[in-house]
Amino acid sequence: MKKIQISPSILSADFSQLGNEIKRLEDAGADMIHVDVMDGHFVPNLTIGPPVIKALRKYTNLIFDVHLMISPVHKYIEDFANAGSDIITIHPEATDNLSDSIKHIKSFKKKVGVSLNPNTEISIIETELKNIDLILVMSVYPGFGGQKFIPEVIEKIKSLKKIKEEKSYQYDIEVDGGINFTNSKDVINAGANILVSGTTIFKENNGNIKKNIETLKEV
Ligand code: DX5
Ligand code: ZN
Repeated sequence: MKKIQISPSILSADFSQLGNEIKRLEDAGADMIHVDVMDGHFVPNLTIGPPVIKALRKYTNLIFDVHLMISPVHKYIEDFANAGSDIITIHPEATDNLSDSIKHIKSFKKKVGVSLNPNTEISIIETELKNIDLILVMSVYPGFGGQKFIPEVIEKIKSLKKIKEEKSYQYDIEVDGGINFTNSKDVINAGANILVSGTTIFKENNGNIKKNIETLKEV
């Protein structure tokens, strides 16, 4: 089994202190930083864009795992690459040509993630699976932190793991939304190797983020 990594979502951080919050996550043992970018159109909420990512870049060398919930996404990829993203994850529904957008992300030497909403089938990205570094399995409908985990996605994680092994694909399997100390074990056992978490990391155990990161890694 691959080493389990935790990618805390700064959506639940104190937005007036984002630089310090990222340092705090690094000190607490975060493996990467999950940045949720929302446009009020692809999802019904608005967050941050490239200038904020650029400003945060100097606070850490941790991987910036940037989740773009914006449409149309293609024309903004360059800005997010230049702002200092390391992994750029897009939703297939947010681009006219997924293959072109994947190539575009790669042209900036960035890792490519593709995200599947709870109701998006694996089959719609099947031809691209060999070109993808990471699949972000949404376990809530994107837009807000603090939602309830949708258990049906466990089967999707298992299928992705099975396809990966059968075809010797290289993608990481990351899960995002409603992760807590119970379902974390279920998604790890199903085949996920990266867990995103906002609410659990920042709010459980009176905000002891070190303890929360460690607990999420336990199987
Ligand atoms: C949802 C975002 C997630 C989410 C994670 O649209 O992509 O990253 O905020 O937060 P929790 O762990 O609170 O569900
Ligand atoms: Zn996310």
